[in-house]
Amino acid sequence: MKTQDKTGQGASRGQRPTRGRRNTAKGRVVEPALTQDVAKLCEGLAPSPELLIEHLHRLQDHLGQLPAGHLAALAAHLRLSQAEVFEVASFYHHFECVPEGAAPAAPLTVRVCESISCAMQGAEALAQTLNASAALQERGVRIQRVPCVGRCAQAPAAVIGMQAVAPASALDLIRRITEEQAPGTQAAGNPASGTWAPGATEILALPTLAQALASGDYQRVQAAWSGALARDTLFEQIEQAGLRGMGGAGFPTARKWRTVAAQAGPRLMAINADEGEPGTFKDRHWFEQAAHRILEGALLAAWTVQVDAVWLYLRDEYAALRAGLERLWPELQAWVDAHWQWQDEQAGSGQSQTAQDQDSPRRPAPRLHLRRGAGAYVCGEESAMIASIEGLRGLPRLRPPYVAQRGLFGRPTLVNNPETLMWVSRILEEGPQHFAGQGRRGRSGLRSFSVSGRVNQPGVKLAPAGISLRELIEEHCGGMLSGHVLYGFLPGGASGGILPAHLADEPLDFDTLATHGAFIGSHAIVVLSQHDSASEVARNLMHFFRHESCGQCTPCRAGTVQMARMMAEPEWPVSGLQALGQVMRDASICGLGQAAPNPVDSVLRFFPQEVTRGTR
Ligand SMILES: Cc1cc2nc3c(=O)[nH]c(=O)nc-3n(C[C@H](O)[C@H](O)[C@H](O)COP(=O)(O)O)c2cc1C
Ligand code: SF4
Ligand code: FES
Repeated sequence: MKTQDKTGQGASRGQRPTRGRRNTAKGRVVEPALTQDVAKLCEGLAPSPELLIEHLHRLQDHLGQLPAGHLAALAAHLRLSQAEVFEVASFYHHFECVPEGAAPAAPLTVRVCESISCAMQGAEALAQTLNASAALQERGVRIQRVPCVGRCAQAPAAVIGMQAVAPASALDLIRRITEEQAPGTQAAGNPASGTWAPGATEILALPTLAQALASGDYQRVQAAWSGALARDTLFEQIEQAGLRGMGGAGFPTARKWRTVAAQAGPRLMAINADEGEPGTFKDRHWFEQAAHRILEGALLAAWTVQVDAVWLYLRDEYAALRAGLERLWPELQAWVDAHWQWQDEQAGSGQSQTAQDQDSPRRPAPRLHLRRGAGAYVCGEESAMIASIEGLRGLPRLRPPYVAQRGLFGRPTLVNNPETLMWVSRILEEGPQHFAGQGRRGRSGLRSFSVSGRVNQPGVKLAPAGISLRELIEEHCGGMLSGHVLYGFLPGGASGGILPAHLADEPLDFDTLATHGAFIGSHAIVVLSQHDSASEVARNLMHFFRHESCGQCTPCRAGTVQMARMMAEPEWPVSGLQALGQVMRDASICGLGQAAPNPVDSVLRFFPQEVTRGTR
């Protein structure tokens, strides 16, 4: 079916089962008062199905929940079936559907991260203390255990409403909440609903566009627009730098760009800022430190690949950052509109390169869209992210066709991670040799490692590709914590496996770790000591995968449940786990199900003494 056309090209929705817009509501009778309520709360949003998730956020933010009546009214507002609206709303963890007659949602939710870096710093005890707090109970505060919130270096992390607190202590959290909210009252802060949403007003102060321009950002993209930098040069420089994607798969960036650029237009682009891999927080770091670098890289990619629209898909947990970007966005779009030039126009041909623009004397600059995730890790997988941007459930799909061929709204789509785009801008400024010339042991480039766990100075560490874990800890992290001796490490978050201390001198790089059944992924390093247990870590990771599986394919949906059960035994059933792991790897649709057995395999291979008889 056709959607409201963002590209101006009559793009159709992607290749997934789509929905028909309804002229008459089916299902629940919609109350007129709720229709008005929904229209008011969603003011300013186009009533387009692809904006369903944005509409749901508006309701969730204001009401603190999604009552059945409002969902029905929203379905009518968007002319979608009630079933579809419910299906999408119930897919995402950050939406709370409340059936008719059910008790309303708690006025305030405190999310406590239970993923690995926080679990190692006492997250479970924190959640239990909060749960037992009479002051919080009096106020009806709900404590929810949630996966990684991207603050692993300051573990344990918690989020009050939408406000991140890290490191979090029970005392501090209770104090913050009780100072804001008297017992027996609805929490203050949100006039529409009385729900407390402190993070909603917190805005990360990003440099304004004028400040960024004054400090030299956007010079490369201006050079491209003016004709001082040719498209071919841009492709070549990224190629010479050897830049590879920083989202996890490490795909060569220039090759991806060329593939998308070679597809018939209109072409589209999405920046994947979903950052949900436990242990990963580098994208947030770079947005906070260098947002304009990322945005310049995105504009350069859009210009080189000649895309008509760009979507930035940002994880919902980064609320303050989102608010900062929302403030910047109109200014950025206006500046882009005023200055953008395609190379062919700049060369004076007056001809644009895609058929749809041939009647137009000036091909418009790309539209820039901001989209908000809703708490589903799987939406970082690129085909799932595309479905989510289209307003659907974030279900990954089988490939081919690859998203480079058939992505957003069925169009060829360039997907890049924010850090990848930051490097594009820096490579063009500093030269490809500068980037490629960094590196150890024959590897080239720089990498941002998100380091957490038992080290003195966790955080994002910019280090040469090919550095070993031992060097990273000694040179960048101030060594191991006092009283802790290296026992093992996660090289690539939840998905990359667990390696033992005796492999700490191996280069940490994309291909090298594969020989040990591990991979570097998003460069999320979690350092373990003799006080940790690899099997306990693996149990935590399997719990994460089970929770985050989209449930679409049986090997992943049932496999993660079954594996978690087997891993709960003091002695693991080795052959059963191995056989199941093989099925999951072979038959899962996406990387989540394929990677879920990695930590199990690592434990069986490197830490068997923890889980098998006779080796203890
Ligand atoms: C389950 C899963 C989650 C993912 N999460 C992310 C993510 O949060 N951010 C990201 O950039 N890539 C993520 N990826 C990788 C993307 O699918 C994609 O390869 C990447 O965004 C491409 O950008 P790059 O080439 O710049 O790395 C994920 C992959 C899988 C299988
Ligand atoms: S592997 Fe898991 S997350 Fe991926 S599509 Fe299948 S069920 Fe969904
Ligand atoms: S914030 Fe807790 S593991 Fe990342």
